[in-house]
Amino acid sequence: MNKPSIKNQQPPSLRTVAMPADANPSGDIFGGWIMSQMDIAGAIFASYVVKGRLVTVAVDSMTFHLPVFIGDQVSCYCETTRIGNTSISVHIETWVRRKHASEENLKVTEATFTYVCIDDERRPMQIERL
Ligand SMILES: CC(C)(COP(=O)(O)OP(=O)(O)OC[C@H]1O[C@@H](n2cnc3c(N)ncnc32)[C@H](O)[C@@H]1OP(=O)(O)O)[C@@H](O)C(=O)NCCC(=O)NCCS
Repeated sequence: MNKPSIKNQQPPSLRTVAMPADANPSGDIFGGWIMSQMDIAGAIFASYVVKGRLVTVAVDSMTFHLPVFIGDQVSCYCETTRIGNTSISVHIETWVRRKHASEENLKVTEATFTYVCIDDERRPMQIERL
């Protein structure tokens, strides 16, 4: 059975529109731009959970299911998959609503981003369990 989508469980952590400047030379949206939006979304989400400063340490299982086009409305949905001593892993799904299209939403990418909570000296810092 398919895993239920995060999209149906909570609002997006980030929503934006893919612009012409975000396209690659072929006219499709550059994968690096999508990863960057996901990194920002995951960091916003994780910082609420850990209530501290974070850096990205790893990106796993990045999968591009479908292309993103100029004008698509892009939404990133996040859920915590693991909280360690100093790190937190966030699964992120990116969905689009196509320009001029119906209400149809399409899952275009997903990945797991891991962030480490750091102190002022940039050393890994224990995440407080509330
Ligand atoms: C993130 C950073 C502070 C970690 O320092 P470190 O000395 O490697 O720390 P540790 O080995 O103690 O690991 C810290 C945590 O990261 C996790 N981690 C480290 N490498 C990992 C990887 N490749 N994948 C998943 N988790 C990883 C460890 O499991 C540990 O988690 P835990 O405490 O919850 O068990 C350091 O690697 C760093 O500054 N990296 C650059 C970050 C950066 O600039 N990111 C891009 C811009 S935000």
